[in-house]
Amino acid sequence: MSIRFLLNGKPQDVEAGPTVTLLDWLREARHLTGTKEGCNEGDCGACTVMVTDPDGTACALNACILFLPQLQGRAVRTIEGIAGPDGTLHPVQKAMVAHHGSQCGFCTPGFVVSMAVAHLNGRTDHDDQLAGNLCRCTGYAPILRAAEAAVSAPVPDWMRSDAETLRAASFIFPQICTSGGLPPACPTSSDALADWYQAHPDATLIAGATDVGLWVTKGLRDLAPIAFLNQCADLRGIVANSDTIRIGAMTSLTELGSFIAERHPAFAELIRRYGSVQVRNAATIGGNIANGSPIGDSPPALIALGATLHLRKGDTRRTLPLEDFFLDYGKQDRAPGEFVEAVSIPVQPDRLACYKLSKRFDQDISAVCGCFNVTLDDGTVTDARIAFGGMAGVPKRAAQVEAALIGQPWTEATVTAAQAAVEQDFTPLSDMRASAAYRLRAAEGMLTRYFLESCGEAVNVLAVRA
Ligand SMILES: Cc1cc2nc3c(=O)[nH]c(=O)nc-3n(C[C@H](O)[C@H](O)[C@H](O)COP(=O)(O)OP(=O)(O)OC[C@H]3O[C@@H](n4cnc5c(N)ncnc54)[C@H](O)[C@@H]3O)c2cc1C
Ligand code: FES
Ligand code: FES
Repeated sequence: MSIRFLLNGKPQDVEAGPTVTLLDWLREARHLTGTKEGCNEGDCGACTVMVTDPDGTACALNACILFLPQLQGRAVRTIEGIAGPDGTLHPVQKAMVAHHGSQCGFCTPGFVVSMAVAHLNGRTDHDDQLAGNLCRCTGYAPILRAAEAAVSAPVPDWMRSDAETLRAASFIFPQICTSGGLPPACPTSSDALADWYQAHPDATLIAGATDVGLWVTKGLRDLAPIAFLNQCADLRGIVANSDTIRIGAMTSLTELGSFIAERHPAFAELIRRYGSVQVRNAATIGGNIANGSPIGDSPPALIALGATLHLRKGDTRRTLPLEDFFLDYGKQDRAPGEFVEAVSIPVQPDRLACYKLSKRFDQDISAVCGCFNVTLDDGTVTDARIAFGGMAGVPKRAAQVEAALIGQPWTEATVTAAQAAVEQDFTPLSDMRASAAYRLRAAEGMLTRYFLESCGEAVNVLAVRA
């Protein structure tokens, strides 16, 4: 198939298979070997590139799990394009030299690209911005010092030029493939996707490819037939009215995190712990639900908020409570040819708390993720929505715990009694992330934490200051 995008400011017309990753193409077809291959699964950031959309939005992405068709109509800047056209170093490159931010140098291109994107976007939360980049030998202190030192330097002109070039009339994107045939479909609307998917119900849909990418790079799977969803603009974005917040399936975790921060800060904080900047920029809410993972982070929060899932097959649409979508491990209530269009949550006062337990703070999958949304009226529990990830084969509501709370006074005694119901709701597995016993105790402890937090107690050890 033919794909058109900008690479370091220059238009590219690329003929390649649909599941060729940007990393492989850069290194093997273009011999641009500054972009490194470390893990080849989105974990280390050695392959970080900057991707800009025509509206000027620039983000860091992992090239190793980014398929070329996901770049259609966008601009890519690799480490080779971070210095100016005349070789002038970017301010973050100068700062890395001045602060001794590189030792063996393997991680350095990825760090520099992440730092340059953060610099462009005015981000100064360097710990978060660089959490997806691993360094084995320099140590993070000099790298963080370099990021800090570059903050006040102006953004070089060339870093802003991609969006203008994309918008320029001379750079018109052809329709690379239509929704009408095989191989890969790149529909440009949900209507076109619905028609195509109904005709090819066994196809693989590719949204952000943070799961599917690994099926190719690690599983060496042939995914045909394929549909890429990245050009379905009407599947992307969040619309809120006085009753409902509707989140399109192609909305990225980054976009959701920014939007939800004011309404449900605990959900935004959970999203901050989701993978890394690069992963959150690619991963979509539709993919995080549709993959049915028992340890996906957004479903427990969405279930606790009373989310409704919007599914579509051809012209037929249906809705269901999100918790009913997850039937069993690896099994969801989704028919062949049916796709996730959106998920919506009712507008409500914020009572949500989300607790993620993982072996590492950053860039790690949950061992247990508990989300709590308890409504009180004059000290009595009138409603409770509590959902866990990592406690069963699916993200699941704690129905018995909720029943033990509703109608009771919101007291330590009620919470202690309700904790006993955790074992009625869940029979978790022991695996490499946690034992069954640990998971049960952790879930009980999260309920206590929610209670104490509601009483104004400081429970977050990370927030404790000397
Ligand atoms: C390094 C790394 C760290 C990660 N960390 C986390 C984490 O902390 N928390 C977490 O929850 N997950 C994490 N993940 C997993 C992954 O990011 C999520 O599952 C992600 O949300 C998947 O979304 P996607 O858009 O990338 O989906 P894709 O990979 O494109 O697709 C995933 C599945 O969903 C299907 N699909 C996608 N969109 C639709 C749709 N609209 N309708 C129907 N089916 C659809 C695809 O066909 C596929 O089966 C991590 C992944 C990586 C690589
Ligand atoms: S090579 Fe490790 S994230 Fe891409
Ligand atoms: S400088 Fe060697 S891995 Fe970072």
